Amino acid sequence: MSDDYIQNAPKEIRFDDEVICDIQNVCTEFGDNIVHHNLNLKVMRGDIIALVGRSGCGKTTLLRHIIGLTKPQSGKVLLFGEDIHAMERVAQRRLMNRFGVLFQQGALFSALSVFDNIAFPLRELKQFDESVIYQLVMHKLALVELEPRNADLLPAEISGGMVKRVGLARALALEPELLVLDEPTAGLDPDRSHNFIDLVKQLKKSLGLTVIFVTHDMETLASLAERVAVLEDKHIISDCSLQELAKSNHPFVINFFQTIRSRLEGL
Ligand SMILES: Nc1ncnc2c1ncn2[C@@H]1O[C@H](COP(=O)(O)OP(=O)(O)OP(=O)(O)O)[C@@H](O)[C@H]1O
Ligand SMILES: [Mg+2]
Repeated sequence: MSDDYIQNAPKEIRFDDEVICDIQNVCTEFGDNIVHHNLNLKVMRGDIIALVGRSGCGKTTLLRHIIGLTKPQSGKVLLFGEDIHAMERVAQRRLMNRFGVLFQQGALFSALSVFDNIAFPLRELKQFDESVIYQLVMHKLALVELEPRNADLLPAEISGGMVKRVGLARALALEPELLVLDEPTAGLDPDRSHNFIDLVKQLKKSLGLTVIFVTHDMETLASLAERVAVLEDKHIISDCSLQELAKSNHPFVINFFQTIRSRLEGL
């Protein structure tokens, strides 16, 4: 059962050879805590790539570098061919419209309704009038399979699975080419997690998205990732399909697969 899971995991599929994100020799330190050392990773258009590694190894920090929230001590992050950390603010904002982010905690604005949460990035752009924003928000709600009647609810009034969907709808608001998801299925029950994975797969297919995601959840990994990048010992020690990864002799990877197998057997 567990090995079928690994064998049936998506194989590497690429639309073309355009590099969407190119992480070059990134080094990150917080005081004397060295988190990344000469870390390299390339993400191509159309990839669905999972970033995995033990807790505290620097996955979220790397995502934050990718989206320009934080800057590594040295090295470069090229996003759509441009150095996100070396740009003028206006150019950086333009680049930011090309990706959507769903953070580890879901992070909706608690005082804003579902509608206003999704409308937020659209209003920030100051390019659309409210009637256009209404159409766009309703379209995104439908895309993540939420009912129009959910639009007026506050985050506290919806379930955990719905919070994730609203977060995804907000990440999709500006029709991004790249989705960055940190633990997208954490805290969801298996059914909701399954639905969320299907939704991301459908969106990738219909919108041609590139997806970079972090997960500790083995089912999410086995059913969504076309490539798995393993962050261990401050750098990417492996970057390949889950099937290829299963053949690795690296002690961390062996241990990682033992965990996968025991968890899948318990499913
Ligand atoms: N702003 C910060 N200031 C100081 N240290 C930080 C900061 N952000 C992250 N760190 C440290 O960097 C390391 C990597 O943290 P990060 O959140 O990236 O790990 P992670 O791989 O995402 O872990 P998890 O799987 O638990 O989410 C940790 O040791 C963390 O304490
Ligand atoms: Mg994290």
